Amino acid sequence: MNNYFYITTPIYYVNDKPHIGHAYTTILADVLTRYNRNIGRKTFFLTGLDEHGQKVQQAAEENGIDPQEHCNQMAPRFKELWQKLHISNDDFIRTTEDRHKKVVKDFLQIVMDNGDIYESEYEGLYSVSEERFITEKEAESGEFRDIKKLKEKNYFFKMSKYQDALISHIESNPKFIQPEHRKNEILGFLRQPLNDLCISRPKSRLNWGIELPFDKDYVTYVWFDALINYITALEFNQGTELFESWWPASYHLIGKDILTTHAVYWPTMLLSAGIKLPDSIFAHGWWLMGESKMSKSLGNVINPMDLIDDYGVDPVRYYLMREMVLGQDSNFTMGSFIQRYNSDLANDFGNLLSRVTTLIKKNYDGKIPEPGEYLESDLQIRLKGESLSSKVEMLIGEMRLNEAIEDIMQYIRTVNKYMEDNAPWKLVKEDKVAAGRILYVAGEALRLGAVLLSPVMPHRTGILLDALNALNTNTSWGNLNPNSMLKDHEPLFPRIK
Ligand code: ME8
Ligand code: MG
Repeated sequence: MNNYFYITTPIYYVNDKPHIGHAYTTILADVLTRYNRNIGRKTFFLTGLDEHGQKVQQAAEENGIDPQEHCNQMAPRFKELWQKLHISNDDFIRTTEDRHKKVVKDFLQIVMDNGDIYESEYEGLYSVSEERFITEKEAESGEFRDIKKLKEKNYFFKMSKYQDALISHIESNPKFIQPEHRKNEILGFLRQPLNDLCISRPKSRLNWGIELPFDKDYVTYVWFDALINYITALEFNQGTELFESWWPASYHLIGKDILTTHAVYWPTMLLSAGIKLPDSIFAHGWWLMGESKMSKSLGNVINPMDLIDDYGVDPVRYYLMREMVLGQDSNFTMGSFIQRYNSDLANDFGNLLSRVTTLIKKNYDGKIPEPGEYLESDLQIRLKGESLSSKVEMLIGEMRLNEAIEDIMQYIRTVNKYMEDNAPWKLVKEDKVAAGRILYVAGEALRLGAVLLSPVMPHRTGILLDALNALNTNTSWGNLNPNSMLKDHEPLFPRIK
């Protein structure tokens, strides 16, 4: 396994404030980063903002301010939300930064020098909402708004030249586009001849963008600019170690709405520039409200700030990670949020925690008892715990996060059952040593569960591990220290009424 794990989220448009959909992708990247860090890999986690293009220019105009000023006002809203959600990103890129403008210009020049950019007069249908030329067929599909007929001189990238190379790369690298059905969708799309990509916008029509290095009357098409952020953050072309260590990215995480740009535009751009392709582009599904996608333009979004204020960060992270099957759509409802919280966190997890700590405080002066000699049923808990860590590692490697979480909760339920079967609250009256062993085993299982859940709920598992005097990410059995004192802590998962 490569020891360098580089993961990215899309860079979000600053035309409006962030919603739960943006929070979802960012939390997912954070969970994967923390998980990989826990198992000893070096990690680099990039997120940021897409600040150019028409949507942003329009939003600024509506607010009656200059586009840069608009971006400067919006950026803190994203940064604050990420802080509030305990996002542990290593860098935060904004496409209006000089470091990015420089890399985009260098990249354009490389592609130009390779003979892959040409000028041409083009007449076609243009979708203002999507900011690109569309085909007659697309126009008929009804999925595009604000369609205009445009005749313009523009610069084009010879995307078609790389069609065959892209197809063969996808076919020989089964993990390149995930999940499988998205890969098939792209291969299907690539069965038709690929058009070249219009990569410029005349300043007379749009000036909020990065000027082309070879024609000052044009700015760069926003997607050709935005995708490059993934290498800007690694100081592309500056000959630093940063790039060689981290590139190619392990994952570009995206929603399925931006699959084509990532799985077709970006790889062909990289092929032209002679840069390696990322290991994997992973497209997750959408959070829906009822039948429709949660989206800014539909105005049916859940504000993550409100949810956090009402229920706390970790329950929100837990729900989003546990509920969505990666690759499929998921319905967001307050009912399922509360049910999930109460059954998994308040009942299963919270119960085990309060039983173990209450009994240790009451009968052992708050000191963690000695494990002593294991009996068969204790050994079972230990063996299950040991196989759980490797199972979780396998599931997360396959992006089956909800299953990994479910397996951890299943283990917690097994430990609750073990407590009931052995009833240490009764046993302690007859045999304090035996009851101590049960509490040690249950406490150690709880510790292990908390370590495995820590990427999902870093804050509350941190409080718990600290209370157990075991603030580390060690998953090998027996890291709970006998004779150390339990610390008091606030209730971690109080029931929601
Ligand atoms: O597309 N469910 O930015 P964007 C799940 N700037 N995820 C959702 C979601 C939903 N309902 N709504 C949004 C852009 N997302 C470009 C990207 S990258 C070089 C440029 C998430 O602000 C999901 O990750 O429209 C989706 O792909 C992304 O937000 C789109 O964010
Ligand atoms: Mg969008």
